Amino acid sequence: AMGRFIDELMARMTLTEKIGQLNVLTSDWESTGPSMRDTYVEDIRAGRVGAIFNAYTADYTRELQRLAVEETRLGIPLMFGYDVIHGHRTIFPISLGEAASWDMDAIRNAARVSATEAAAEGIHWTFSPMVDIARDPRWGRVSEGAGEDTFLGSAVARARVEGYQGDDLADVDTVLATAKHFAAYGAAQAGRDYSTVDISDRTLRDVYLPPFRAAAEAGAASFMTAFNELDGVPATGSEYLLTDILRGEWGFDGFVVTDYTSINEMIPHGYAADLRQAAAQAINAGVDMDMQGAAYMEHLRGAVEEGSVTVATIDRAVRRVLEAKYRLGLFEDPYRYSDTARQDATVYRADFLDAARDMARRSMVLLKNDGDLLPLTGEARSIALIGPLADSKPDMIGSWAAAGDRETRPVTVREALQARLGEGGRVGYARGADYDFAAAGTSDGFAEALALARDSDVVIAVMGERWDMTGEAASRTSLDLPGNQQALLEQLVATGKPVVLVLMSGRPNSIGWANENVPAILHAWYPGTMGGAAVVDVLMGDYNPSGHLPMTFPRTVGQVPIHYDMKNTGRPIELGEPGAKYVSRYLDTPNSPLYRFGFGLSYTEFAFSDVSLSDDTMQPDGAITASARVTNIGDRAGETVAQLYVRDLVGSVTRPVQQLRGFSKFALEPGETRTVSFSLSPADLAFTRADGTFGWEPGEFQLWIAPSSGPEASTPVTFTLTGP
Ligand code: IFM
Repeated sequence: AMGRFIDELMARMTLTEKIGQLNVLTSDWESTGPSMRDTYVEDIRAGRVGAIFNAYTADYTRELQRLAVEETRLGIPLMFGYDVIHGHRTIFPISLGEAASWDMDAIRNAARVSATEAAAEGIHWTFSPMVDIARDPRWGRVSEGAGEDTFLGSAVARARVEGYQGDDLADVDTVLATAKHFAAYGAAQAGRDYSTVDISDRTLRDVYLPPFRAAAEAGAASFMTAFNELDGVPATGSEYLLTDILRGEWGFDGFVVTDYTSINEMIPHGYAADLRQAAAQAINAGVDMDMQGAAYMEHLRGAVEEGSVTVATIDRAVRRVLEAKYRLGLFEDPYRYSDTARQDATVYRADFLDAARDMARRSMVLLKNDGDLLPLTGEARSIALIGPLADSKPDMIGSWAAAGDRETRPVTVREALQARLGEGGRVGYARGADYDFAAAGTSDGFAEALALARDSDVVIAVMGERWDMTGEAASRTSLDLPGNQQALLEQLVATGKPVVLVLMSGRPNSIGWANENVPAILHAWYPGTMGGAAVVDVLMGDYNPSGHLPMTFPRTVGQVPIHYDMKNTGRPIELGEPGAKYVSRYLDTPNSPLYRFGFGLSYTEFAFSDVSLSDDTMQPDGAITASARVTNIGDRAGETVAQLYVRDLVGSVTRPVQQLRGFSKFALEPGETRTVSFSLSPADLAFTRADGTFGWEPGEFQLWIAPSSGPEASTPVTFTLTGP
């Protein structure tokens, strides 16, 4: 039925009307709410727009929709897109934080809540999930993805797509998902945003593409192209990515949108001489919709006339856009998402706020807890709460607030702590330090903070990066605490009072000094609307922390790129004596990271033992089961993440020292033991082989089941994969 409907519609469309469907334009909006810009009114009325982004609320989307439906010749409804990244109104932790939960049900639910809120405000389409693998913490956008690992990243990608899209795109509480940014945007050289990407095709396929493929297989309705070039070709003009791989190899049948003006950017890239050429390159490569570039709007007709683009190519793109609108049910009722009553009953629902608080608790990673300083005991203690992030509402939200409120709704740590401790508790607060880069070397506010610390039993220092120091166009060359925070932290520790560092940031920071000198460290990311309450839940022991790092924390920025699945090299450090020269090492820093990928502590302790295999031989058409016993040997209930890693010892190309191939998060009561099992088959061991084909190779493998990465963290078992 869809095919026939669209055939009939397209038969009635002029070339201008067809090209109109391929443009996504932003509506302007004011801080008090969205408003229309006159040019967009004209563009919509003239049938020059297929989708609008940055417009939301039931009333506003209804008004724009009315222009498209009632004032254009064919009345084709608009689609409304938006960056609903980690929540729409109710803001969840930043995506990297959510990934640290390793909890796919919670992540799926967070996306579900986001979709429900967004769809109730007229949104049909989110520019999420961002599935870029990110291995360079200098890059600001590491905060928007799921971290460094392909396997975890693929699982998170699937969970998010499922959460946004639900079972049926025609349901009015689902939105279309967008896998972005296709592809390899996270590999920007030196971590500088938008910079050149030059990686091998094998690395592209084995590291950067799998989460995109997972998103496509989960049914993601759209893909967004990346800003970067890849092997000399801007991703937005890459037939290799957009047609050969995405359509050809993966069979993707949704639509492809550009990132913001990325067709235009093919000119400064030096890939197109002018916008007409860029428009032709993009549509011929496989880009269906032009976001904000007006390249299609202004030049596709000319490109058809000059013969560089065929009408058939335009028809193909138009059909994909119309299919998305059809699947959303917009041809049946263009206003079905713009329902004020549903909007009022939906945004900031109490259960959504609870879900955001729960997700935030699950995302936090306990990095250190000497002497069980945490959780803070219930006895009336005086607390010195210090730092620029202790009471800052905007910072709780992180980048991409979407329609979330940054100013009034977010619960800060200070507010939550005061509420939690009530009358009896004494919470003193001093901002003390400043995270502005320019504050380095200054010490305004130190005296007040130090006096408060001396007068209190315990110090909670909430430090990190200002929210806009990660996200788009927020790359750094240093991973240290910015401003004068480090200096104040050192002086706080020097008071002799026990210090808890609550870190808020969107990237791995180099906190080696803190790791040496501060007894307790909790990473809280940017935890969202309910973030302060969640931090306090963890600090007070109402929730036992269960997050594990989705990215390696380097000791120093000089170790970057550093990730757990590196290669062994021909001169691994273990081949030399300690301090030996002529092995792969640094003179001034150990090779090992500060905190490994997969690492995270709990208020209880888990013992992993008895790693065993159902068979030490895997047949080409068979599978083996790997199991381990996990016991909670502490005295509190808690959750851990059992992680399965493998190493392929010899390959037709060299293989990483470890690769995550399974994980399971579960809760155990004190004294309880669980046997955790993973099934593993040859397909799980596949990679891009020397001849370019994708598959496994027979040979010896090592396997670990452990609570973090690190070959030295536990003893592996071995198995053999037989075959030709
Ligand atoms: O979705 C985003 C993208 O991640 C970065 N550029 C702008 C887009 C739309 O806001």
